[in-house]
Amino acid sequence: MLSIDKFDESILAVKTPDPLRFAFARKSSPHAGVRLKPLAVDEKERALKQLFAADGEKSHKRCLYIHVPFCRVRCTFCNFFQNAASRQLVDDYFEALMLEIKHKAWMQWTQAGTFHAVYVGGGTPTDLSAQQIEALGKAIRHYFPLTADCEITLEGRINRFSDEMFQRALEGGFNRFSFGIQSFNTQVRRSAKRLDDRETVLERITALSATEQAPIILDLLYGLPYQTIDIFEQDLADYLSTGAHGIDLYQLVVGANAPMLNLVEKGRIPSPATTPDKASMYELGSRFMQKHHMRQLSVNHWARDNRERSQYNSLAKTYAQVLPIGCGAGGNIGGYSMMNHRTLDTYMNAIKSGDSVVAMMTKQHALEPIFAALKAGFDRGVVSRAMMPEFGACSSYDYLLPLFNHWQEKGLLQVQGDYFSLTMAGQFWAVSLAQACIQVLQSTYQEQIALEPVAM
Ligand SMILES: C[S@@+](CC[C@H](N)C(=O)[O-])C[C@H]1O[C@@H](n2cnc3c(N)ncnc32)[C@H](O)[C@@H]1O
Ligand code: SF4
Repeated sequence: MLSIDKFDESILAVKTPDPLRFAFARKSSPHAGVRLKPLAVDEKERALKQLFAADGEKSHKRCLYIHVPFCRVRCTFCNFFQNAASRQLVDDYFEALMLEIKHKAWMQWTQAGTFHAVYVGGGTPTDLSAQQIEALGKAIRHYFPLTADCEITLEGRINRFSDEMFQRALEGGFNRFSFGIQSFNTQVRRSAKRLDDRETVLERITALSATEQAPIILDLLYGLPYQTIDIFEQDLADYLSTGAHGIDLYQLVVGANAPMLNLVEKGRIPSPATTPDKASMYELGSRFMQKHHMRQLSVNHWARDNRERSQYNSLAKTYAQVLPIGCGAGGNIGGYSMMNHRTLDTYMNAIKSGDSVVAMMTKQHALEPIFAALKAGFDRGVVSRAMMPEFGACSSYDYLLPLFNHWQEKGLLQVQGDYFSLTMAGQFWAVSLAQACIQVLQSTYQEQIALEPVAM
């Protein structure tokens, strides 16, 4: 039986009449999860060899993630920037990437199952040339066993994304496009070092969406400097006016490495929004989507129509295995998480010398199936008893029920029968709630392991 009294407000949430704005101090990290100890180099090499030489678990769906670690200009808010793009660097990288694709495709594990979703992300994959984008799409379809309805997403931005590039991407087999917009407002964009003005972005997204060739999905941020609540409301209206097929609303969380905080400190730009202000923006965004009958696929993703399925995002957040390819790509296979080299030189040298590109590997936590179910459920906004694996002798849902009931009293969720759904406040704090569940389970697990007698 879980006793929640020993936990503080970072788990239980603050007692407040306004949980949307004040249940927790801030969003601590972009995703929920646990930190684990990396395998030693020889263990890592052995585990990789074994994993890729076997068929692997057939019951788990598979995704492919390919990373393009370049951007032409670094945005002030971004935590993901790796390298400044130059034609030569990108060309050399593309060659290395193709070698890794062939190498990974040749493995027994890869050919033993089918891939349900592919995501080419970054960085900025649309900074590849039109020919490279087409060749990449064709290589993915040629080398990997894909399901007949496999979602193949190209991420990027509209800057220099010409009609020719769009056509060649479609010819390559890309069937979903995700563009980072962040905000349509020109002042907000300029201060964040985005390249185009509002009119250009609106015109381009409208034209691409009107082709009705494939779903066009937009990312918007809320909380950027100069992005008042009125400007954010205009951003939402702008999304609607473009006819784009889906939208992500991401809360701005600026990491220590992003240039923005330094610029704020020097007085060059105003501060980004506070957490309570971002909560108000989330509420506005969510109500806007409801009002315009957008279908909610997760706590931060909405679809205009049935065409947008967001397969990769929902699969990668659940039990699916993700094969990572490219410099800085991360994934998980057969109970291990892995991350490829993040430094371009190290990655390129590994490819040239035929060494493994996996820089770090960890064995997933024994409770990972429960953690994955929690992350997926909180991300969807609904958790059901049926989807929660066993925790020791009981259901993990039942074990955590005292915490869920407590959060219900705090206005974060509503328990109904074998399900609970997140309130507006709970949806805003979904990552913090999932993280709190993971911490509670992890600490109980550690206590139980410590109590077990040592085998002699
Ligand atoms: C890794 S970026 C790649 C997209 C593309 N390069 C672009 O510039 O739009 C994917 C998304 O992450 C989100 N993102 C980037 N920095 C973020 C931050 N500091 N907080 C929250 N989301 C962020 C943005 O919405 C962005 O569209
Ligand atoms: S938002 Fe996109 S273009 Fe800007 S730095 Fe991040 S990954 Fe690069």
